[in-house]
Amino acid sequence: MTTTLFVKANNRPVEQSVSVKLYEAFLNSYRVHHPNDQVIELDLYTEPMPYLGNAMISGNYKASQGLPLTEQEKFEHAIVNRHLKQFVDADKVVIAFPFWNLTVPSILHTYLDYLHRPGVTFRYSAEGAKGLLPTKKVALLNARGGIYEKGNSAEMAIRFVRNHLQFFGITDITEVVVEGHHQYREQSERIIAEGLQKAKQTAMSF
Ligand SMILES: Cc1cc2nc3c(=O)[nH]c(=O)nc-3n(C[C@H](O)[C@H](O)[C@H](O)COP(=O)(O)O)c2cc1C
Repeated sequence: MTTTLFVKANNRPVEQSVSVKLYEAFLNSYRVHHPNDQVIELDLYTEPMPYLGNAMISGNYKASQGLPLTEQEKFEHAIVNRHLKQFVDADKVVIAFPFWNLTVPSILHTYLDYLHRPGVTFRYSAEGAKGLLPTKKVALLNARGGIYEKGNSAEMAIRFVRNHLQFFGITDITEVVVEGHHQYREQSERIIAEGLQKAKQTAMSF
């Protein structure tokens, strides 16, 4: 059975949030068009998400070496492992996130930190890093108030997430981006409606 993981990195109410609207539009359409798939929803803001830091780094290292962990290290290592396994086990992953202060919400940055595990999502060889998840399919749903042309270095959200995924060897990455609804207030209704339509359509064949 195909398993699809839906990751939501925004806890604003759906009426106020375009990226949450995208999430819901995609999810509802996906459920209708893939009735036999297993759908798992992960709402990051409802999870304990400790930052990457000393306890997590030393816990991950000690676990890899079979060394005893402190209670804090065990706690953080278990959280990381749970998210890592869920992500690796999913055939497809959908990630919805807003563009805040030029980048992603820090909770999504933290989630991506959990996914870096040598021997699981990537490995190093004489040729450099090699991603280990080449068959995974990912959709990115993002909303940003301004317009950011392709290649604009100030856009550090989609580019940031895509770089992580590519590091894991993921190449099948679909993007649905709604942009400019703050910059062009008078057109915002149309911009958002078109984005939601695109999300629904993309979900049909994802
Ligand atoms: C805290 C915060 C920071 C934001 N920073 C930016 C920004 O740097 N550039 C931009 O174009 N829009 C910015 N916006 C507007 C959002 O990108 C816009 O509201 C978009 O729809 C994503 O948020 P939403 O999914 O909650 O609607 C920001 C909004 C908030 C609330």
